[in-house]
Amino acid sequence: MSIADRLKDKTLYRTASFIDGAWVTGEGARPVHNPSTNEVIAEIGDVGADGARAAIAAASKAFADWKRVSPFERSKLLMKWHQLILENASDLAMLITLEMGKTFREAQGEVVYGASFIEWSAEEAKRIHGETMHPPFPNSRGWTTHQPVGVVACITPWNFPNAMITRKCAPALAAGCTMVLKPAPETPLSALALAELAKRAGIPDGVFNVICGDAQALGPVMTGAPEVKMIGFTGSTAVGKLLMRQAADGVKRVALELGGNAPFIVMDDADVEAAADGVIASKFRVSGQTCVSANRIIAQSGIADRLIAALEARVSALKPGDGFDASTDLGPLIHHQAVDRVDALVRNARESGARIVTGGKPLVDTLGGSFYAPTLIEGGSPSMDMACFEIFGPVASIYRADSEADILRLANDTPYGLAAYVYTRDVNRVYRITEGLDYGMIGVNAPMVGSASTPFGGMKESGIGREGGKWGVEEFSELKYVLLGNLTA
Ligand code: SIN
Repeated sequence: MSIADRLKDKTLYRTASFIDGAWVTGEGARPVHNPSTNEVIAEIGDVGADGARAAIAAASKAFADWKRVSPFERSKLLMKWHQLILENASDLAMLITLEMGKTFREAQGEVVYGASFIEWSAEEAKRIHGETMHPPFPNSRGWTTHQPVGVVACITPWNFPNAMITRKCAPALAAGCTMVLKPAPETPLSALALAELAKRAGIPDGVFNVICGDAQALGPVMTGAPEVKMIGFTGSTAVGKLLMRQAADGVKRVALELGGNAPFIVMDDADVEAAADGVIASKFRVSGQTCVSANRIIAQSGIADRLIAALEARVSALKPGDGFDASTDLGPLIHHQAVDRVDALVRNARESGARIVTGGKPLVDTLGGSFYAPTLIEGGSPSMDMACFEIFGPVASIYRADSEADILRLANDTPYGLAAYVYTRDVNRVYRITEGLDYGMIGVNAPMVGSASTPFGGMKESGIGREGGKWGVEEFSELKYVLLGNLTA
């Protein structure tokens, strides 16, 4: 059966870029693979630098009108888009599982999560307002307004092919900006289906454009065009730094959601069973391929053995497999190179003296797709590779530490500062540890930090700016101050 035939609405299967409200095929045919089966599920043309320029021109033209559309009208259009996404949730989830591999259950969750950013931003569109203030001059008044930044160029990742798009473009459109979006080459289908639904919702041509093609050709056009006023990106810190350098010439605003190295701290007084459940939820969600996944599980010495036992039972029970099989807990990694990368980290851990409690090997030969065994490692050193770099795979690694001061030092000993987690029942510790952690988001007795209403983003080399909540919308607006002087009133 063809991919389109698997959908209730076949027209959501789009394989061309979306520029100024039209489908543009581009040159060549880059294959998109299902990582679970290696099957080619689509071939996508490359619009090249000219296509990127056309999309930017369309977004720039559309901006002149879109910024003047009343926020109430923008809100209605976004709400319509939200409604269409929920009506087509099962097709959108099917596309996510097909192109990215995560379980259908996770994909369904992602569609609802993604839609929630549109709903939140639609509501927020009506609440973008300024303030009045007293300037220090006689007979004067001052006030601020928020003005949309302009055309925004965004580059989004493959791990959340739907939600990382809506988390950027919904607040951007709500604020009055227009967008040119380049999805990850591994997962263009979700982005293009979202574009189809945006068109059906009545979002005007040119307001939301999706371009597919080679990053080396498209990226510099997106960062270099004078019409583009802001760059949004979710992905690796290395690419984030490159985009920041490219954006510097035009002094463009950047919103960067980059890599993490999340510590998951379990203190002696924690509820061990709840902490073990939390590690599974944080570490094995999307097979460990999220930037907020627990990367280093730091167990206080008094509780470490009990935590390892609780985790061994849970991790060895996890079942990897095809995302459409209802008994599957974990889908594949995005591709075979990802499997090789994770395996190299595990081999390095073994060589550094760590013990593989369970798992520790690729399952490519057994399961066919790019699978890696759910893995638990203990006794590793904080200087081994997987403690220093993002694992981005289903490998949980436990480190022991004694005092609160040692734990904080270890947790902060990284250039990253995205998410951290701490499990404790002592409220004094909650304050001490959360205040001591240099991270943008901290889950206390909670393994998941993202939501439409809360700020998502990192400190240090994990990024700049926040997505979600009122902060997500503010990123896409310029604050303008007006001083009115010489009043006679
Ligand atoms: C990410 O990994 O980039 C996003 C994770 C989330 O929103 O929870």
